[in-house]
Amino acid sequence: MEKIATGKGQKLYQEAKKVIPGGTQLLSKRPEMFLPDLWPAYYSKAKGCKIWDLDGREYIDVSYMGIGSNVLGYANEEVDAAAKEAIDNGGMSTLNAPEEVYLAQELIKLHPWAGGVRYAKAGGEAMALASRIARAYTKKDIILFCGYHGWHDWYLAANLANKNALNDQHIAGLDPLGVPSGLAGTNLPFHYNCIEEFQALMKKHEGKIAAVVMEPIRNDYPENGFLEEIRKETEKAGVVLIFDEITAGFRLCAGGSHKVLGIEPDMAVFAKGMTNGYPLSAIVGRKEVMEASQGTFISSTFYTERIAFAATLKNIELYQRYRVWEKQEEYGAIVQKGWREKAEKNGLDIEIGGIYPLSHFSIVGKENSLVYKTFFVQEMLKQGYIASNAFYTTYAHSAEIIKEYLEHVDEVFQMISEINSRNEIVESYLEGPVCHNGFGRLN
Ligand SMILES: Cc1ncc(COP(=O)(O)O)c(C=O)c1O
Repeated sequence: MEKIATGKGQKLYQEAKKVIPGGTQLLSKRPEMFLPDLWPAYYSKAKGCKIWDLDGREYIDVSYMGIGSNVLGYANEEVDAAAKEAIDNGGMSTLNAPEEVYLAQELIKLHPWAGGVRYAKAGGEAMALASRIARAYTKKDIILFCGYHGWHDWYLAANLANKNALNDQHIAGLDPLGVPSGLAGTNLPFHYNCIEEFQALMKKHEGKIAAVVMEPIRNDYPENGFLEEIRKETEKAGVVLIFDEITAGFRLCAGGSHKVLGIEPDMAVFAKGMTNGYPLSAIVGRKEVMEASQGTFISSTFYTERIAFAATLKNIELYQRYRVWEKQEEYGAIVQKGWREKAEKNGLDIEIGGIYPLSHFSIVGKENSLVYKTFFVQEMLKQGYIASNAFYTTYAHSAEIIKEYLEHVDEVFQMISEINSRNEIVESYLEGPVCHNGFGRLN
């Protein structure tokens, strides 16, 4: 069997680990999360849904597409032209960029329940701002949350009171090292679609809750009026409802997924879904809630940077012009159906989840599912794909690309099935270590 030849990317990654603790700035981009010791690791160029590594090898990205940040595809010409124009006219000055006003107006137009917008650069950072503003508005401390919302103290504090709190919200084994112990008990988890759990927390901490923080949708659809009930109870209790739309936003419609679900929050936070790769996040909120940001100090030089505002405005314009959400859903539906059919055909058990634009799967068998994932990534890489057990569909994909991708999926599933039927183990066919699942020291 042809083996993977590593190139300049792996060499550079070994160097990176000597000077960058943890190797990369984003856990989801760690090569160990895909194919330890063999992943191309770095790119020289990205365009549409293609990526070229440091050795000039070309791949089709059928995985995370910039970890969810490129809904139009890489290096979109119109978005980049808007960014270049901003650069040519000065990306920074002592005066403010007018684009930040135009974008606020656009975001409020898309979310008519809102009356104010603040900005930051990253998603998790914007969630920290939203939490601060909600606490400032309510003058209360406790936050009830569901799901992943970034790396900041307010969030990781959940593991101070219970070291396993984040295990099934984000990843297992996160040590809240460096988070002040005084924050213990300020951030309490509940689970999606578990309304009784939510209600019990609301009752237990009545009068002390500042905010409820959650993604309106991600892996599952809300059941039995889950979101309606949360909206009703938060409104009654004067608790700020914050929808994290960082990844779910701009997947099902232009703007927050809550528009499709028919629930209006008090704040919605956007980031990578809306920018096509440029660093910008937005906290969009009801007028009276956002006014509280005038009383608590939030201020940063690079929050005023012009290029990302210009690019984001163009991205939102194009997203609507091309009705990109329709493609994201259409392609995602084909992908999920394809995974299911190919697994059935090859006698594999598969679990599939996620809304169509953010689809993922897991093969269930006698070996650890990470073994199957690593084998899949390895064999798909050989066929020229940057693949994983997730597929975030974008406007840059096409029905043809997905058809060919699914043919390769079929081949890899068949290989697994044949290994199984020979009573061998898939792990023995891995050319490197099994991929990682979570966070940990690398070196
Ligand atoms: C729901 C959600 N919240 C917060 C974040 C953190 O955003 P960022 O990586 O831009 O800080 C992410 C990133 O994946 C996310 O999916």
